[in-house]
Amino acid sequence: MSTTLTIARPDDWHLHLRDSAILQTVLPETARHFARAIVMPNLVPPVVTGAQAAAYRERIMAALPEGMTFQPLMTLYLTEDTDPEDLAAAHASGLITSVKLYPAGATTNSSSGVTNFDKVRPVLEKMAEIGCPLCVHGEVTDREIDIFDREAVFIDRVLDPIRKATPGLRVVMEHITTKNGADYVLANDKDLGATITVQHLILDRNDMLVGGMRPHYYCLPILKRREHREALLAAATSGDTRFFLGTDSAPHPTHAKEAECCAAGCFTAPNALSILAQTFEQAGALDKLEGFTSLHGPAFYGLPVNTDTITLTKGDTEVTYPNALQAGEHTVTVFDPGFPLYWSVG
Ligand code: NCD
Ligand code: ZN
Ligand code: ZN
Repeated sequence: MSTTLTIARPDDWHLHLRDSAILQTVLPETARHFARAIVMPNLVPPVVTGAQAAAYRERIMAALPEGMTFQPLMTLYLTEDTDPEDLAAAHASGLITSVKLYPAGATTNSSSGVTNFDKVRPVLEKMAEIGCPLCVHGEVTDREIDIFDREAVFIDRVLDPIRKATPGLRVVMEHITTKNGADYVLANDKDLGATITVQHLILDRNDMLVGGMRPHYYCLPILKRREHREALLAAATSGDTRFFLGTDSAPHPTHAKEAECCAAGCFTAPNALSILAQTFEQAGALDKLEGFTSLHGPAFYGLPVNTDTITLTKGDTEVTYPNALQAGEHTVTVFDPGFPLYWSVG
């Protein structure tokens, strides 16, 4: 017995493609299933100017295997020195789709991010004026604030004041991990959306920490307690158009994950859709999957829904993925959901 589900081809509204050998390895994993992705700019050095975004876009297209199609939706990395005119020109030409705010030090490659939010006010005002959305890594970096509270505190101390001070600014709360994040979206229906990752829908902090630390489950914002996961799953499966998929697939070399101080990020691109289909089915919400993966994101960004489709099939036998992929001289370890998968993407 098999069950099939055909949906409009998904997009990934938060993705790390990296560069060089890792880019070569991970790009086909996304392009196989997704038509478009919002490509994160946290390279070293970061993608700050329009010229850098254009060059990165070319490197991505050059890495795309023959016969595959994929549209990278480029972003700029917001710094305290970002030039509003360069940003506006990159947006007007269609080169960039959004701008990414990293609080300095919040996550992987975020040291050039923002410390003093007043300094970026003119840029945010320009973005509101031209209709360029802001994607936000929503965590404070204050050492006084417990890592499990950093998202909730960011909403109160940074995000809400920015939104009140900049009417019309469209904001995507990237990779929300808490009930506080979902509730904030639900309470603010204008100009606000949120992406949710695969791992935050299926794992809580016990999965990462009980019985030993699992570095491949370590990502930022960190996995939270179960009630937060449940709130995220409820949001994702609700059909509410403000919530959409951003896998945050974030490959790191295996040696950097399995290290004394492990890098943050889960590489979920290969099996994200298998895991999601199974998760939505278990939640009794398979009919809401297409909205989450393929319809709500384009609606937020004002882009057309993809015209082609993918078919997901549930079979009787377990679907397996490689444990790791070779990337130059290193490997990147593929995310293991911790349960057998029966859904494949045709
Ligand atoms: C991301 C990365 O590795 O670039 N890591 C992660 O844990 N999510 C950065 C980010 O999205 O915060
Ligand atoms: Zn982030
Ligand atoms: Zn990310």
